[in-house]
Amino acid sequence: MITLLSSDVIQARVRELAAQIEADYPAGDEIHLVGVLKGGFVFMADLVRAMSPRVTMDFIAVSSYGKRTKSSGEVRLLKDLDTGLEGRHIIIVEDIVDTGLTLTYLQDILRARAPRTLKTACLLSKPSRREVEVAVEYIGFTIEDKFVVGYGLDFAEKYRNLDHIAVMDAE
Ligand code: IMP
Ligand code: MG
Repeated sequence: MITLLSSDVIQARVRELAAQIEADYPAGDEIHLVGVLKGGFVFMADLVRAMSPRVTMDFIAVSSYGKRTKSSGEVRLLKDLDTGLEGRHIIIVEDIVDTGLTLTYLQDILRARAPRTLKTACLLSKPSRREVEVAVEYIGFTIEDKFVVGYGLDFAEKYRNLDHIAVMDAE
């Protein structure tokens, strides 16, 4: 595997995103982060630790279609949130936006819960793979169409624990 983004580079960018998020919301307003399991958990953990005590968090889990297969566009809710979103500032925290189908589904179901604001933060974006237009206000890194692992992202449930992002070798 070849390192695409080192741990240092990721950590520096995550701190920048946290500062940008903090600056974008009125001082004192609570910011509620919704982490998307499983891939978003490492990004979420570093992001919240770079933020002020006004951050709260919850997690949601959705099914991902089989790896490397063309998405059917079907997304299934596996684990819902513990608390309601009405009137709150919500930021969805996801590992990567690829076709955009997963995020479109998540934004639709969460917007229906009447949050005060709804934004999205993704560590990675692969714009060349997009099938649907989806708004992502905070993007860590824009990358080429390569399958990547580490820092939460998996291949067959492995490599999520890497502290950096690596490109899988062609088999
Ligand atoms: P989308 O619905 O196509 O945007 O898919 C997003 C989901 O596909 C992500 O949350 C990841 O779980 C998975 N995914 C997309 N690209 C990669 C990759 O390069 N490595 C690992 N998982 C990926
Ligand atoms: Mg994911």
